[in-house]
Amino acid sequence: MSKSSGLDRGLTDYGDPEFSRYLRRSFARSMGISEELLGKPIVGIAVSGSGFNNCHRTMDDLAEAVSRGVLSAGGLPLAFPTISLGEVFLNPTSMMFRNLMAMDVEEMIRAQPMDSVVLIGGCDKTVPAQLMGAASAGRPAIQLVTGPMMTGRYRGERLGACTDCRRFWARYRAGEVSEASMSEVEGNLAVTAGTCAVMGTASTMACIAEVLGMSLPGSAAIPAVHSARLAAAEESGKAAVRLARQPITPDQIITADSVENALRVLLAIGGSTNAVIHLAAIAGRLGISLSLDRLNEISDQTPVLVNLKPIGGGYMEDFYAAGGVEAVLIELRSLLHLDCVGVDGQTLRQRLDRIAAEKWIDRTIIHRFEEPVSVGGGIVALRGSLAPDGAIVKRAAATPALFELEGRAVVFENLDDLARRIDTPDLDVTPADILVLKNAGPIAAGMPEAGYFPIPGKLARAGIKDMVRISDARMSGTAYGTIVLHVSPEAAAGGPLAIVRTGDRIALSVAKKRLDLLISEEERLRRLSSWSPPPQPERGYAALYQRSVLQAPQGCDFDFLVPGHAGKQPSRQK
Ligand code: FES
Repeated sequence: MSKSSGLDRGLTDYGDPEFSRYLRRSFARSMGISEELLGKPIVGIAVSGSGFNNCHRTMDDLAEAVSRGVLSAGGLPLAFPTISLGEVFLNPTSMMFRNLMAMDVEEMIRAQPMDSVVLIGGCDKTVPAQLMGAASAGRPAIQLVTGPMMTGRYRGERLGACTDCRRFWARYRAGEVSEASMSEVEGNLAVTAGTCAVMGTASTMACIAEVLGMSLPGSAAIPAVHSARLAAAEESGKAAVRLARQPITPDQIITADSVENALRVLLAIGGSTNAVIHLAAIAGRLGISLSLDRLNEISDQTPVLVNLKPIGGGYMEDFYAAGGVEAVLIELRSLLHLDCVGVDGQTLRQRLDRIAAEKWIDRTIIHRFEEPVSVGGGIVALRGSLAPDGAIVKRAAATPALFELEGRAVVFENLDDLARRIDTPDLDVTPADILVLKNAGPIAAGMPEAGYFPIPGKLARAGIKDMVRISDARMSGTAYGTIVLHVSPEAAAGGPLAIVRTGDRIALSVAKKRLDLLISEEERLRRLSSWSPPPQPERGYAALYQRSVLQAPQGCDFDFLVPGHAGKQPSRQK
């Protein structure tokens, strides 16, 4: 091993490199590692298990399998912890901590002597955080996801977190399901280890990691409890040793072309809207910008091919059995950049040439390009006087009858206001209205998944299932409805959303990709002149976050982590 690799990489500063080397070797030997192994390439294993993260319950087994692979290929595996982000256990929202985890991952990869790293994670924010960190650290890295859950059963019906969680909750709110039944449902929604069982954010990001080339081919959709998941972990360990010997760094894998491939697959799988933010953040770490206009061009050319919840009927275990990501890539081949290289050292072309001929594909789950689930891509970006820097709608999970609509705004000022009034019997609202939630964006609230806010109680009980809802928040990848998200600039950055009032008219056109607030220019300026920004948190991470977070189109990364970024400059409409 050279002096700048293995255990000798990045010596601790004592002002005497030889002393640092001697001390490090001595302390490494205190762990009982043989001198022979200490001379091998070192593969770090970033583990993110936690008692507060059900989705990472198999972390120890996966880390052991990776270690097995590393040892068998002649490397030294050394696991190290990073923080863990369990989606439903974090307050106010896991999104606030994605950048914190990305910094943890980046700095620990860079600071410790590893020649390559296997990143193990799965829950929504973990894979983006690990990829962002690895991209910035610049060391060869492989993403290994924990894999999706299997489905449960309730009275003969398959259940999977979390589209069915939301479906049953909506039925409960409408008075169709009893409390006793909900208790039974609760015990059957998430019945195995792994990430949410549908094409939510975790599954979408797993697919994106594979398409980018950062995970081993065929590994994204393997269920968490399937033996193939452990085999993929072992293979990831072997591949990491190859990368340690013949480095391919994240910047060679995550390129403008592979990001575009990932965006196309995101649209074809009907993936999560959150992935648009995460992909922008990952790409942004390498100076690649993700344009919403390009997203729309790709969306118009790319049909939805995958029939999974929340837009279809299947679950991730079906997707795996149907052929997984590689089957989708085969269908999209003519639209992909095929020279992109992955962690296995192969180009996408080589990979598809190898598998295309003999691949069996279940066409009830993964449709042919010529016979798609729906003709347009799953997500489109909107612009207009209400969203000058863009907004997102998941049209594949929305109600087409609501796509072209002008309606009266019914406004909630913030999350507290929403919680206080949404179910009040005297709320002045009709099914033809457009519901607007302000101050749930990155600066105001860390951008929680509050965009899928409920239909007002009195309308839900009257059988209304969907209404246009607009906010600067995000939405869970497992959710559905005609929901306009990520309105940018957000209200707390002085975007036009800040000045919407109940009674204003709003026009939505998915066909024209427009979102407009129908007030005069004079009125707009008058209202903006009395707007003031929210107070800043005084200390700690919350203060750093609010000061530094970028808007959704820039991936909500911190300004100081994006190369060449000149500091935060939120668009103000004054
Ligand atoms: Fe972890 Fe859904 S809660 S993936």
